[in-house]
Amino acid sequence: MRIIHLAAELSPYAKVGGLADVVQSLAKECSELGHEIEVILPAYPFLKKFPIPSSFKLTLLDVPDRSFERDKIYGYPDDVQRFARFSKHAADYLRTKSYDVLHLHDWHTALLAAYLPRSLLTIHNLSYMGVCDPSLLHELDVAIEDEFRGEEGYSLLRVGIVKSSLLTTVSKTYANEILHPQYGYSLSDVLKRHQNKLTGIVNGLDMSYWNPATDPMLEHHYDAVYPEEKQIAQSHILEKLGLQPTTKPVVAAITRLVWQKAPYLIAAALEKTVELGGSFILLGSASDPETEAFFLELQKKYEGSASVFFSLTFDEQLSHQIYAAADLLVVPSLFEPCGLTQLIAMRYGTLPLVRKTGGLADTVTDGINGFVFEDPSVTAIHAKLEEAFKLWEHPEEWKKLQSQAFATDVSWKRSAQIYLSLYQRLAQTADSV
Ligand code: ADP
Ligand code: GLC
Repeated sequence: MRIIHLAAELSPYAKVGGLADVVQSLAKECSELGHEIEVILPAYPFLKKFPIPSSFKLTLLDVPDRSFERDKIYGYPDDVQRFARFSKHAADYLRTKSYDVLHLHDWHTALLAAYLPRSLLTIHNLSYMGVCDPSLLHELDVAIEDEFRGEEGYSLLRVGIVKSSLLTTVSKTYANEILHPQYGYSLSDVLKRHQNKLTGIVNGLDMSYWNPATDPMLEHHYDAVYPEEKQIAQSHILEKLGLQPTTKPVVAAITRLVWQKAPYLIAAALEKTVELGGSFILLGSASDPETEAFFLELQKKYEGSASVFFSLTFDEQLSHQIYAAADLLVVPSLFEPCGLTQLIAMRYGTLPLVRKTGGLADTVTDGINGFVFEDPSVTAIHAKLEEAFKLWEHPEEWKKLQSQAFATDVSWKRSAQIYLSLYQRLAQTADSV
């Protein structure tokens, strides 16, 4: 099949979060399975600087209004207009091409569903809708339908939900959660109406990119067969970060510091870890000024501490080293469509400690391959951390969980087949025309 992805992010060159990993790794997996894959991205200037190797065709599309000639992917007041125009431009470009399926990702490219047939829209995160003025839709020649208007007004994601041929989201639990206003917000109604085209498919990882046995970003390698070597990797990385060696767990968080990720619970986990005698490593990016100020304050509190390391940046290489160095990774999200950090953690023999929501609930099982707590409260995360620290005192039991985490299938193997069967359904609709 000929499958074309349209997205705002692609790992590792244009990455803000998990969307980038998913577009790259799903495209690669399907290409390795013999399909013809093309990924279309806006021609960000930072991508045009060097040739990008990939196992699929990558097209960088220049948008005539030059609104992508900027340093960052997002974060501008005209983001919605930029991506809407990109979508229209991409639709014009694609009209002359043949394809079986268009795979759209999030609000950024959802509008393509209004222009072209056989589209599958994946919702990676419903809290970003691309709210817009109807005049933008007029300007871009989109014929407005009644269903395009909801409580949020008009949004590019809503248009995509209505117009796409198929819808997916990135875990089964999130697919159910978003049918209720608590997680689906103003879009839960339109999702319920289109529920028959919605499937929850859990994300996988690029198993060669995320591999502690070969990862070029690590100096010391290890795998499930020799997990003891993880300790060697850990002690070198702790030393590099200026942290003292420890006999207690090293706890980490690698995350965008936004409301979704419950920054207050991350801070609570940090304080508890220190109280229990453990070490804490925080790699946190992209927060609003208030959250940033909060973490800068916390950083000040632990300045000079040999058991706390902070980096309030986005740093791909450092993230790999922290996955390798940590014993526990905390992911206390208020909602989490899928979450990749808990998957990467398991691949690196690091036990995830997560809140029971969305994809976290689908991939981590308490007492089997990690720790799970339910209530988004300081008390609940503290209690789970205490439990984890207690288990640490029984190395054989800890090792058992660790080997079960290593053995958890976090690859694309099963999920790619589900996507392919959906693609097949769409491709067949082309044959029948
Ligand atoms: P989200 O997409 O909501 O941010 P995911 O868990 O799906 O959450 O994916 C996050 C991805 O971004 C992972 O690959 C993670 O390693 C990476 N990441 C998050 N924060 C940082 C950071 N500060 N520095 C480097 N990588 C990060
Ligand atoms: C989103 C979600 C995250 C998911 C990622 C990739 O950014 O917040 O849960 O893993 O997309 O699908």
